[in-house]
Amino acid sequence: MQEKRRDIPYPVRVDLARTPTPLEPLIHVSEEMGVEVHIKRDDLTGAELTGNKVRKLEFLLADALQRGSDTVLTCGAAQSNHARATAIAAAKLGIKTRLLLRTRNPANPPSLEGNILLDRLVGAEIIWLTFDEYGRRVEILEREAELLRASGKTPYIIPEGGSNALGAWGYVRMVEELAKDPKGLLEKGNGSTTIVHATGSGGTTAGLVLGVKLLGLEARVVGINVCNDKNYFTKVVSEICNTAMANYQLEIPFSPLEDIHIVDGYVGEGYGKASVQVLSLLVDLARTEGIILDPVYTGKAFYGMTQELKRNPKVFGNKVIFVHTGGIFGLLPMAAQLESLV
Ligand SMILES: Cc1ncc(COP(=O)(O)O)c(C=O)c1O
Repeated sequence: MQEKRRDIPYPVRVDLARTPTPLEPLIHVSEEMGVEVHIKRDDLTGAELTGNKVRKLEFLLADALQRGSDTVLTCGAAQSNHARATAIAAAKLGIKTRLLLRTRNPANPPSLEGNILLDRLVGAEIIWLTFDEYGRRVEILEREAELLRASGKTPYIIPEGGSNALGAWGYVRMVEELAKDPKGLLEKGNGSTTIVHATGSGGTTAGLVLGVKLLGLEARVVGINVCNDKNYFTKVVSEICNTAMANYQLEIPFSPLEDIHIVDGYVGEGYGKASVQVLSLLVDLARTEGIILDPVYTGKAFYGMTQELKRNPKVFGNKVIFVHTGGIFGLLPMAAQLESLV
């Protein structure tokens, strides 16, 4: 740990995640890529709460509790990991959940599998939105909150992916975990290290960037976007970082162009659509390392990382930490795409 470490002004947090998560070497991948690759097992933040979202929810739901909220409202794709983690975490805290999920035809919603099954199992109410309506999600979340208030409830809105300045603290905390890890991968003088991860709504990237800055580390943060593009996420992540800096009086040097690195080019046919190359890599990694990725987030990001490393093994410096942000429940309903590969 660096001597000039600052005290980190964490907001109030409720314990939900199993942390610290393990940091493990990926032996076969490292050999194949010609560079040390490690994996931060944030898929092990909990069996049912698996993934990155629970780290954000520790701060978001603590805020909801402090405000006396009894119902949490959030939104996402049909198989949203964030929606599932919210519904389960809220159930643990005695809070009700109303989810706004998007689907092609709300009159014929997706079947009860994967994350959706878990949403319903813990009693979340699901309102299905068309893609058009989902484009107006901020307004619709507000409208739902108003309806809840009118019926005497105290709602709390969590934005898509839990990605805002408060949720980002979850990944500040994760950087602190990495910095304290006995492997010392983020220690100065231990060579350059890059933290690679999937970027889906930007909050994880923002938290990682803020964490590295607050701890005065030299690590680079690289997000591989699974939807939208580099410009979009540079803007979104920069907004979250700037809001956090303003809200929590964080005096850190921050320059979006120098600190936010989004590697674009791996979205493929679009959000949620994985190519056969991504699916094949997912199968390979399961067989060689026993690591289960998902096709929507971690599989795409891992594929992007390996493609970049194949071009230049030192593109991410001497060491790489891939953050496994979870997603296994989204994989389970995808048997049809995987059948020919397994
Ligand atoms: C499994 C998984 N990995 C990565 C991400 C991306 O994280 P973020 O939304 O913070 O960019 C998400 C959610 O979007 C996710 O569900």
